[in-house]
Amino acid sequence: MPGSYVLAIDQGTTSTRAAVVDSRGRVVAWSRREHSQIYPRPSWVEHDALEIWSNVKAVMREAVAKSGIDPAELRAVGIANQRETVVVWDPSTGKPLLNAIVWQDRRASPIVDELAANYGDEVRRRTGLIPDPYFTGPKVMWMLDNVPGLRGRAERGEALFGTVDSWITWNLTRGGSELVNERGGGSHVTDYSNASRTMLFNIHRLEWDGELLQLMGSPPLHSLPLPMPSGAIFGFTGPEASELLGRPVPVAAALGDQQAALLGQACMERGCAKATYGTGTFILMNTGGDIIESRHGLISTVFYSTRPGSAAYALEGSMFAGGAAIQWLMDIGAAKSPSQVEELARQVSDNGGVYLVPAFAGLGAPYWDRYARGLLIGLTRSSDSRYLARAVLESIAYMARDVLESLMEDSGAALGELRVDGGASSSDFLMQLQADVAGIDLLRPVNVETTSLGAAYLAGVAVGEWSLDDVASMWSLDKRFKSAMPREERDRLYGAWRDAVARAAGWAR
Ligand code: G3P
Repeated sequence: MPGSYVLAIDQGTTSTRAAVVDSRGRVVAWSRREHSQIYPRPSWVEHDALEIWSNVKAVMREAVAKSGIDPAELRAVGIANQRETVVVWDPSTGKPLLNAIVWQDRRASPIVDELAANYGDEVRRRTGLIPDPYFTGPKVMWMLDNVPGLRGRAERGEALFGTVDSWITWNLTRGGSELVNERGGGSHVTDYSNASRTMLFNIHRLEWDGELLQLMGSPPLHSLPLPMPSGAIFGFTGPEASELLGRPVPVAAALGDQQAALLGQACMERGCAKATYGTGTFILMNTGGDIIESRHGLISTVFYSTRPGSAAYALEGSMFAGGAAIQWLMDIGAAKSPSQVEELARQVSDNGGVYLVPAFAGLGAPYWDRYARGLLIGLTRSSDSRYLARAVLESIAYMARDVLESLMEDSGAALGELRVDGGASSSDFLMQLQADVAGIDLLRPVNVETTSLGAAYLAGVAVGEWSLDDVASMWSLDKRFKSAMPREERDRLYGAWRDAVARAAGWAR
């Protein structure tokens, strides 16, 4: 009997993955490719969008070939993507007009200073976001101010803007049947969850916010993607992608990678929360149909949607450094691999008073200090690489505790458990440290590829292969980490962390 499979594309900050997922939520084949990180200046981060598209094609081809499935069994393609990153391309050639500006890029800080001072509350009320160069809108404003001729091109329909989901969908559906619109090329669309990261999208009305667009001098509406529910038919694959897949397949889901992970963790109940330890660390809690206005430095964001005009929401704490702090330690030559960082950290029984504040790109939630910079404090003559490694891992755990405290205060509920995933969640040492420092139990599922699973689940739902109720039954526990540190001890360590953060504040202002 033929099976039903969905192809999930997970386009992340450092790599692109494709996974073929069966109707029981099992990954039957996958493939991965890394892409270049371009740092033209300090605090600028760019990607080559064409390299990303060529990696998407390569991993799709490889995953489908490895799976050995018949093309007729492939029911849909779903996309999860790095969020906030912006791509601008010419619809007649399909070529990007400049490198993609990545979420980590801080070049729009001065633009945000002005926005925050004049319209901070308004931005917050309409978009759920705290003004920061992390989000897409300020990056677009920077482009329009600094790339000669770009505004004119956009007005003449010679430039399209989009987050990474839009760029991939446009390419996947290029020349295919266009169910959504007829703007040439492929479907120029985005989903509500990605749109909710732009600072241009009204999360109450689920549409581009006309007044904010005007206020921010953004490009004309016809150059922005059409916002759609996350699980929907965005179009069918065009000739180029169909050749790789064996036949035209519907592109049936797109959502931000962190929202996809929340779905892949089967957090379908209000109050369920997850932490993903990737390049950054992102904690999201499902708040159902409610948009909770945080008073403690969190942002409100669209979780997902399956119907036009309605959505489930989440509260989010976005922390810019996680794996990035581990990478930094490797870059300065103190360790050769993430597992060596863990090995070093395990060799000491405490942090010896050494704290790292990994504010390499400023601090995200709950501080939102774009001018904070990294700080290493408490060094003595005996602070060797073992203590540095421990300080790096502890910093990830302390930042997560910052956000968990905010989540509990905003939601008014004690959080007993947290589901965990992402690369660094495979470290038992880090997970135990996290449980200890936060005083909360962590649940790690068998399949930590939750981002791909979330995209696959939603695409499967959109084409009627399975229902959202099935999703919960696809989650299974690998390991529970129980908090074991006495309260006084974890509060003492955490107090010193808060003190270190205060010293890193505003350094680059
Ligand atoms: O908001 C940025 C986030 O989507 C990046 O996630 O996993 O690509 O580092 P990741």
